[in-house]
Amino acid sequence: MRNTGPIAIRRLHPLFGAEVTGIDITRPLSAREFGPLRAAFEEHSVLVLRDQPMDDEKQIAFSENFGPLEPTLSANPAVGTVFARQSNLDINTGETIPSDDMRMIYQKANYFWHSDSSFKPVPSLCSILTARLCPPEGGDTEFCSMRAAWNALPAALQATVEPLVAEHALVYSRNRVQPGILSAKALSDYPPVRQRMVRDNPLNGRRALYIGAHCGHIVGWPRGTSDALLEELTLRGTRPEFTFAHKWREGDVVIWDNRAVLHRATAYDTVKHKRLMQRTTVAGDAPTVPQ
Ligand code: OGA
Ligand code: MN
Repeated sequence: MRNTGPIAIRRLHPLFGAEVTGIDITRPLSAREFGPLRAAFEEHSVLVLRDQPMDDEKQIAFSENFGPLEPTLSANPAVGTVFARQSNLDINTGETIPSDDMRMIYQKANYFWHSDSSFKPVPSLCSILTARLCPPEGGDTEFCSMRAAWNALPAALQATVEPLVAEHALVYSRNRVQPGILSAKALSDYPPVRQRMVRDNPLNGRRALYIGAHCGHIVGWPRGTSDALLEELTLRGTRPEFTFAHKWREGDVVIWDNRAVLHRATAYDTVKHKRLMQRTTVAGDAPTVPQ
């Protein structure tokens, strides 16, 4: 496909998400070709592009249109690259990893609603996940609009949350899977950071609630009150009407705005089926609050 015509956008949900067609993102894009895609990203928060078979090199080239990429976490098997590998296949042998292996248990943190890299001092702009091998059933990725979540909060609750700052850390999401699961090295590599609890899109001003599994507690609040508010915001914010599930096909590329949505993985039969997804993560440009 030559990128000569305009892109077409089909909404996937009344509130957010769009499928984009009419563009081949596996080949280099000019600024003029990329512009409409970037605009669609700012508007729709989640973009789905199908039949875009990626390899690592092409994925990096495409992802860099959005900005510099984050390096892989030290705890990820693809360490030393820019890829977060979501897979049940051993990176060296390609064999299925047994379900009681720590590498599989660790991935269960993805089952909780989260925003990638919210535990970093400068949180990410977006994530780009490409489907290399898909199970025939299960393994969907779900998305939840945090703009919808914010808009649905009663005004008094919005006023309470607006000035708040929360502490985020990798240890908070990992402890939800199994307390103590994070290695001492990962603990010291990723100390807690502070994030505003609301984020305003710098281009269109649309406000989003900023919470998720890495969010541990509200700065300056007693533990019980903080836990109660975070629980309430999570319940109110992740209502089914604000979510949709992406059912993966090989060749799919999904781009999501970590400033404006939460996402989570869903289960699949990791013994019977193979799943290999590669994620690149585009760095953000500023902290949400002074550290
Ligand atoms: C991710 C992620 C979900 C999935 O790549 O950041 O959360 O379904 N993935 O693999
Ligand atoms: Mn994720």
